[in-house]
Amino acid sequence: TVKKEIVEPLLTWYNAVKRNLPWRDKDNAYYTWVSEIMLQQTRVEAVKPYFNRFISRLPDIQSLAICPEEELMKLWEGLGYYSRVRNMQKAAIQIVEQYDGHLPKDFEKLLSLKGIGRYTAGAIASIAYRIPVPAVDGNVLRVVTRLTENPQDIMKTAVRTEIEKQLSDIIPVLAPGDFNQALMELGAMVCVPSGSPKCNICPVKEFCRAYISGHQEAYPVKAKK
Ligand code: ADE
Repeated sequence: TVKKEIVEPLLTWYNAVKRNLPWRDKDNAYYTWVSEIMLQQTRVEAVKPYFNRFISRLPDIQSLAICPEEELMKLWEGLGYYSRVRNMQKAAIQIVEQYDGHLPKDFEKLLSLKGIGRYTAGAIASIAYRIPVPAVDGNVLRVVTRLTENPQDIMKTAVRTEIEKQLSDIIPVLAPGDFNQALMELGAMVCVPSGSPKCNICPVKEFCRAYISGHQEAYPVKAKK
């Protein structure tokens, strides 16, 4: 299990190092949604200009729902994986019809929207609506399997489900979005893939079983395809 002692040092570290990003700390669920979809296959620095242009042309869900196909494709040109933005438009139409143009404040309802899986639903719910649910992406899986020396294959759904449960048990109700983003940021900046994890600067190394045993590079375990 993940130690609850990580929560405070992780939040303190995040507040000290977090970047000012155009979608961050804006209290706008649509911004959170657009940014999380763009960030799924593209790095933060590359996403910034695309995000700013997308939001100035399509400032809300209503405008996304009615955007002509050709213009939508132009706004996405360079990001790739066009099914992502096609799914977003389908979801936007659904949101206008069913939810008066606002993303629902409910994890299961978010999950039922086209293109929104467990990670994205968790990110929107926690970051935009302060609902205490986890948001587990590849970075978070690496951080958690190292903290706990979890030897199981992270490609298995049951393993991800167990990790979601472990995080649900410690997620702080006052700052669930910051907690989730701190785990993502730690995975991106410190607890990086094997070869070069920067354990010396990690705010939670004293609670990390892999650091203590010196086996941080052995995690996460991925069974060969
Ligand atoms: N990568 C994807 N989403 C992120 C977020 N909200 N914060 C930091 N890194 C991310």
